[in-house]
Amino acid sequence: MTTAARIADGPIVPIRWDDGTLDIIDQRLLPGEERHLRLSRCEDVAAAIGALAIRGAPLLGIAAAYGLVLAARDGRLEQGAALLRAARPTAVNLPRTVDLCLDIALTNPAAAVEALLNQAQRLESAEARACDAIVRHGAALLAGARTIMTVCNTGALGTGHRGTALGIIVQLADEGPVTAICCETRPLLQGARLTTWELSRHGVPAQLIVDGAAAAILRTGDIDAVVVGCDRLAANGDLINKIGTYGVALAAAAHGVPFVAAVTMSSIDRSALSGDDIRIEMRAPDEVLNLVDGVAALPGVAALNPAFDVTPAHLVSAIVTEQGVIRRADDPRVRRLRAAARNAS
Ligand code: MRU
Repeated sequence: MTTAARIADGPIVPIRWDDGTLDIIDQRLLPGEERHLRLSRCEDVAAAIGALAIRGAPLLGIAAAYGLVLAARDGRLEQGAALLRAARPTAVNLPRTVDLCLDIALTNPAAAVEALLNQAQRLESAEARACDAIVRHGAALLAGARTIMTVCNTGALGTGHRGTALGIIVQLADEGPVTAICCETRPLLQGARLTTWELSRHGVPAQLIVDGAAAAILRTGDIDAVVVGCDRLAANGDLINKIGTYGVALAAAAHGVPFVAAVTMSSIDRSALSGDDIRIEMRAPDEVLNLVDGVAALPGVAALNPAFDVTPAHLVSAIVTEQGVIRRADDPRVRRLRAAARNAS
């Protein structure tokens, strides 16, 4: 793995296949520095995924597809597949892509590297088209929403293209005045570091809040909608997303604020009957115990660090996928969305 610092400029390109290596933005260093890593072995890709140098469900699938190209080139396809599968357990995009790519490699053993590269590029294009369609459907659903809360990062950095939930917010801001309320997303601060960075590059006004402020702010009545992304959607509609999402969904329901999930079809797992069937990634306690700028909890303090949570389906007002919008018929907040969209048109 080699590194090279670069000045941030132009569109955000978090992943790029470049002359036989995978170029990624090291998302751990943003927004302070836009440093690129050049990954030339599948082991490097798996390590970058585990360390969250690259992250976000759709982007994990894309990274895994390119990782397998590197593994096949090195004659270590099975080992690479095992490493990638183990790198992070919650987003279904990762194992799904690995399984699909292994099938492709096994049916084209003589030209596996080329076939896998074609597949990685196809997946990247498909995810980009999915983002475009989600942004179109989501912006129509949320037309008229002016102050929108979001969790974690669901933009270019999580998808490789214009994003899902964040893409919808950026689109709405192109159509009228919008302020994004960004939950900081402890402990790794994807909201504070990545989402506010993306929004500033788009010129969209944003206000950063600590996660603990979300319920109080939803109570004020000043938030028109919450829109979040997804790492895995179970067959019954339970939503698995970044830790903190469930609390925001509960508070949104308590205060009548529409809660919308933007989900690529690649993150839907029909084999999981409910959220209970999905493994939640537990990460290292250190991420929680290191507080700010070198300040840590007392040595010996224990910590629990689940990276995702389950939001039960009944708390989700609507799901936006590239195929359209599914509204919850018995959720009164759906009427609020419809009324706002009518007023906006
Ligand atoms: O741990 P992360 O940063 O990979 O978590 C990402 C999220 O929770 C996103 O909401 C999700 O992957 C959707 S990205 C479009």
